[in-house]
Amino acid sequence: MKEIEVKTLVKAKEEGELSPIEKKLVDASRRATAGAYAPYSNFKVGAAILLDNGEIVCGANQENVAYPSGTCAERSACFWAAANYPQAHFEMIAVCAIGTDGLICEYPTAPCGACRQALLEYEVLASHDVPVLLVGRDVVYCLPSVKSLLPLAFTEF
Ligand code: THU
Repeated sequence: MKEIEVKTLVKAKEEGELSPIEKKLVDASRRATAGAYAPYSNFKVGAAILLDNGEIVCGANQENVAYPSGTCAERSACFWAAANYPQAHFEMIAVCAIGTDGLICEYPTAPCGACRQALLEYEVLASHDVPVLLVGRDVVYCLPSVKSLLPLAFTEF
């Protein structure tokens, strides 16, 4: 039997350890939480995507009284980016969440499974790793790629 190890290296950075572009994207994701429409969960999520044309596209979770009709911040940002800049590729993604206490969650919020799958498709289209920054109150988890969040993913397209 052969064993295959699946590993993810997460760098937990303090604000001062972020590069200027990481800091810019983290700030954009924090600001993007203001666009959340989350009257049912009171959990406000913002996502910011840096494109290779230099644009930063933001999204936020949009809930609906018919609960499954709502969508997460990550998918609202990635579908908007792809629809409006179909030629551009993703360079980096940041996600930030504000909990029901109105504060940025102490521990970074990670994308749900459906968002991981959706984001992964754009990483494949970019033909390179797309780093993911998960923003907590005093820490940013820096992951090397979307696929590191979704090992053994389905990418047969
Ligand atoms: N949510 C996101 O927008 N992104 C995540 O990464 C996790 C969850 C949203 C969905 C729903 O509107 C609310 O947060 C509570 O689950």
